[in-house]
Parts: sequence; C-alpha cells; structure tokens
Amino acid sequence: MNDLREKYIELIGAAADEAALEDLRVQAVGKKGEISLQMRSLGKMSPEERQIMGPKLNALKDEINSALAAKKAALADAALNERLQSEWLDVTLPGRTRRQGSIHPVSQVWEECTAIFADMGFSVAEGPQIEKDWYNFDALNIPGHHPARAEMDTFYMNRAEGDDRPPHVLRTHTSPVQIRSMEAQGAPLRIICPGRVYRADYDQTHTPMFHQVEGLAIDKNISMANLKWVLEEFFSAYFGTTVKTRFRASHFPFTEPSAEVDIQCQWKDGSVVVGEGDDWLEVLGSGMVHPKVLAAGGIDPDEWQGFAFGMGIDRIAMLKYGIPDLRAFFDSDLRWLRHYGFASLDVPTIRGGLSR
Ligand code: DAH
Repeated sequence: MNDLREKYIELIGAAADEAALEDLRVQAVGKKGEISLQMRSLGKMSPEERQIMGPKLNALKDEINSALAAKKAALADAALNERLQSEWLDVTLPGRTRRQGSIHPVSQVWEECTAIFADMGFSVAEGPQIEKDWYNFDALNIPGHHPARAEMDTFYMNRAEGDDRPPHVLRTHTSPVQIRSMEAQGAPLRIICPGRVYRADYDQTHTPMFHQVEGLAIDKNISMANLKWVLEEFFSAYFGTTVKTRFRASHFPFTEPSAEVDIQCQWKDGSVVVGEGDDWLEVLGSGMVHPKVLAAGGIDPDEWQGFAFGMGIDRIAMLKYGIPDLRAFFDSDLRWLRHYGFASLDVPTIRGGLSR
C-alpha cells in the first residue's frame, strides 16, 4: 500500500495537464484502477484481515482523490495565470471609429422641428398610421360626399366580405391626431405631431408615403396673430435667419378662416435661398380650428378656440439642405445617404444652432 501511495502521489505531482491527470485517476481509482482492484480483494479476506485492511484502503483512496483534486485546481490556476500574462488589453487606447451609418435627412429635420416647437412649449403627440375614416375625415369636417376625399388619393384597407362598415384608411395627413389629442387631453392644448402619411401619388415632388408635422394650440384667447408669430419663430430658427411669412386666404374644411403660408425666398442660379429676396414659396396650410372640429374632439367651441397648421417635413428638408428630388429620399441609395446623411451624434438642439 505504501508503494501504491508513493507511486501515485509522485505521478500526480508530476502530471503536466488535466488530460494526464484524468489518465492517472482512471489508472488508480477508476473502476478497474489499481486501488479499486485492491478494494475488491477485501471480499476474499478473513474478517480480521478485512477490519485492518478496509479502513487503510479507504484512507488511501481518499488521499489519492484529494491529491487529484488539489492538482487539478493547481493546474487550472496555472493555466489562468498564463493567460493573464500572455493576453492583455490596453484600456487606454482610443476607440475605433467607423462611420458607417448616418441619420436620414427626414429623421434629422423631424428632430429639428421637435426641438424648435418643444422650445415654444409644444409637446409631441402621436396617432396610428392605419386610421379610422372618422378621424381622418368626418371628425375634421370632411363628410362622405366631400370632394377633399377624392382629391386626397386615399389608400383604403380591405374589409372582410360582408362587413359594410367604412374601411380604415392609411392616414392622408397628420390632422387626425388633432382629434385624438383633443379627446385624450382636452383643452388647453399645445401639441405637434410629426408622422408618416400616405397618398396614391408619385412624381418628382410626390411619393406614396411622406412626412408631415401637424401643429395645434387651443386656449381661451388664441388668434391668427399667435399662429403667425409661432410660424415665423419656427422658420427663423429652422433656417437660421429671419424669415418673413405671407398668409394667403385659402380653404380647408377643418379651419375657418384658413390660410396658406408662404415664406420669403429668392432664386439664385436655379436654387432657392430662404429668408431673402422678394419671391414667395408655399410651405404649409393653416387656420383657426373650425368649431365643428373642436366639438368632434369633445371641446366646447363657445369656450375655447385655437389654431392649427400642417407642413411637409420632406419639403422643408429639401429646401434647407438643397435636395432636388423627393423620390431619392426613399431609394436607400448608399451614395445619396452618405452625401445627405447626418452624423449620428449630430443631435439637433436649439442651443447647438440645430444642423447646418
Ligand atoms: N391636413 C392638410 C393637408 O394635409 C394640411 C393642413 C392644412 C393642416 C390646414 C392643418 C391646417 O392643420 O389647419 O393638406
């Protein structure tokens, strides 16, 4: 037994790795290992002999097992130490910059609008893109027979056969969010709603999906003068220069009176410069919210009044960043995106002067 102990303690001490150690374990205390075979021979001994040899063999087996465990731990420690010494990381090295993605001009301008209107106390509201025909039309004082429905080239969703409720639509403008916000928040109210809208139209200045930002302010003493101030404030911040506006009488079912708003501009070498000269460019529709629209949103028109406006985000993006064709916005052409895109950390803020 002493020979066995000496042999295995020495071999275990010399084992070079875990695999060698495992071989030794099998050889000594495995099912057919040397020590296991000895233990099996206990059965053939006399009871007296067994009483002496049994505990000794058990002690030997325990000793070998703990020697194996200790060596195993030592080997693992040594392996870890070797890794720690050979592999290392300089955490003071600068990061690798790979400017692969960029922010789409629409996203950038969306954020710019949000930043400017938020600064004037407007919060952002949202609504669904698949809209009930009531929110998109009726509640906005556009009843079933109204020509505005036909003019808008609406996309209609399918209804199951036999279901004759009016079909849902892909919202044709962000104006339905006016009604949803009135219902949800009541008056007074000051919101903008940037979002995607849809119309069946396609040419250099029209795509079937495009973006609008809606504005709505409701209070007791709101007038067209407030509307004009807010819009001039917006355009001046957005274009980074004082921009005059011109209001032209117009008609929208959801406002009374209604105005189309032009901004001051000048044509230079075939491109347009905003904020100078004496040309005008139409950029949005607006007006005082129609009493029927207030009532549809659950607000008492005898107590409250407000202004609303709706503007194309893609259009003002084209104007500010000199992008000639709207369709390119949605082509996902990498060269276009690299050229017109913004760095992801160039987050527009008022104090940062927005984006240039
Ligand atoms: N919804 C209109 C459109 O898509 C734009 C608009 C005009 C919105 C006048 C308004 C408004 O809120 O007052 O053409």
